[in-house]
Amino acid sequence: MPGKARLLPESYPETDIWGYGGAVPGPEIRIAQGARVHRRLVNDLEQPTSIHWHGIHIDNEMDGVTGLTQSAVAPGGKFDHAFAAPDAGTYWYHSHERSTEQVARGLYGALIVEEPSALDIDREVVLLLDDWRMQESGQIFPDFMRRHDRAHSGRYGNLITTNSQYAFTMPARARERLRLRLINAANARIFPLALRGLRGWVMALDGMPLDAPRRVEDMFFLAPGQRVDLVADVTEQSGGTAYIERLEDESAQAQVKVLVNGIASTVTRPDPQALPPNPQPVPRNLSEAAEARLVMEGGAMGGMQNAILDGDRKSFRQLVGANQFWAFNGVVGMTSEPLLQVDRGQTVRLAIENNTAFPHGMHLHGQHFCEIDKNGTLGPMRDTILVFRGETREIAFVAGNPGKWLFHCHTLSHQDSGMKTWIKVRA
Ligand code: C2O
Ligand code: CU
Repeated sequence: MPGKARLLPESYPETDIWGYGGAVPGPEIRIAQGARVHRRLVNDLEQPTSIHWHGIHIDNEMDGVTGLTQSAVAPGGKFDHAFAAPDAGTYWYHSHERSTEQVARGLYGALIVEEPSALDIDREVVLLLDDWRMQESGQIFPDFMRRHDRAHSGRYGNLITTNSQYAFTMPARARERLRLRLINAANARIFPLALRGLRGWVMALDGMPLDAPRRVEDMFFLAPGQRVDLVADVTEQSGGTAYIERLEDESAQAQVKVLVNGIASTVTRPDPQALPPNPQPVPRNLSEAAEARLVMEGGAMGGMQNAILDGDRKSFRQLVGANQFWAFNGVVGMTSEPLLQVDRGQTVRLAIENNTAFPHGMHLHGQHFCEIDKNGTLGPMRDTILVFRGETREIAFVAGNPGKWLFHCHTLSHQDSGMKTWIKVRA
C-alpha cells in the first residue's frame, strides 16, 4: 500500500513510497527452518501486483510470477500465500508484477529462515541495500520505462540507502561478533563491497551455507537479488568507526557505518564454524545431465542485428521502437515453450554466455544451482549468478522442484525488455 519513508535528511520532505504494510523495507518475516509462512496479500494499489519469495524452494503456485504461475492480483484483490521454507538462510520477498516500478517504489522485505541451532554470535543485523532515483523534490522519479536504462545497465539511482536510510549507522562494541545478512534489493546497482575495521567470513550465499566459512580478504560483489551472510568480528577499537564500504571508481563510500563504543570481550574468538547444510541435493552425475545453453545478446553496444519478438523476426531498430532490447537464444522475452523441459530429479547443466556489453545477474526461481568452474569443480549453491560481459559461465542443478520456473536477469529493466525465459520441471 502507499506510504511514506524518511529516505533523505530532515531538510527534505518524506518520500512517497509503496510498501508492504506501507513501510519500506516491508515487515521482516522470520520463521524457523521447515515452518510455514501464511500471509495474505491485499492489494491497496491502483495497479495489479504479486509477491515473489526470492530463493525459497517453494510450491510453484506460490511463486508469484504473473503470467507463469498465477495471474496478477487486481487492485482491491487478495492472494493467500501459504508455503513451507525448507532451507535456512537469508531470503527476501518482492513484487513480481511491473517490478521495475513496484520494487523501485519499495515493495520488498526480508524473509529470514533460522537454523535450528543458533550461531555463536552476539548480535544479528539484516541490511537491505537499495538505490533510488530521486527528484529534487525528494520524490521518486517516475521514469520506470526509460529507454536508456533498459538498453544500458538498468535503472541506477542517485540515492543509495541501507534499510531505507541514506547514511545508515549502527552501534557495536569492540570484539563483538556480528552476523550481517546483506540483501541487494536495488533494481540495477551491483554493489562492490569491502569491510574495514571488521574481520569477516562469508557464511552463506543466497541463503545457502558454504561448506567452510571463507575469509573476506578484499572486495566482493552483491548483484541485484543476491544475498550474503557474513560473520564479522569488530576489530576496530572502542571510539573508532568500522565500515561496510562501497567501492566506487577508486573511492570508498560508507555503505554502513559502525560506531564502536565499549568492549564486548577481551579475547578473540576462534574462527566461526560452518552453518549446517540445507537439505538440497548437490548436482553430482554431471555426465548424465540434460544440457542447455543460454546466449545473451542485445542492449546498447551489443551488436545484435535482429531477434524474434512475439513470433516475428524484428530488426534491432524495430526492437528499439518496441522498447525491447535483449534476447536469449535469439528470442526477446517470454515464450510459450520453455528453455528446457526436464523430469523431476534430473540434473541440468546450463551454460550462460554473455555476448552483451553489460553484466547480468541471472536468477533461477525455485531451486539453487552450483557453478561449474573451468576445472569441473562445483562452486557454492546460489540462486543468482553475476555474469560479466564476454563471460561464459556454467551452472548445474538438480531439478528437484516441479513446476514452471522463471530464469531471468535481476536487473529489472532488463527483465522487462527481453531477458527472461523459463524452465519446466515435470512432476
Ligand atoms: Cu527476485 Cu524473479 O525475482
Ligand atoms: Cu541484465
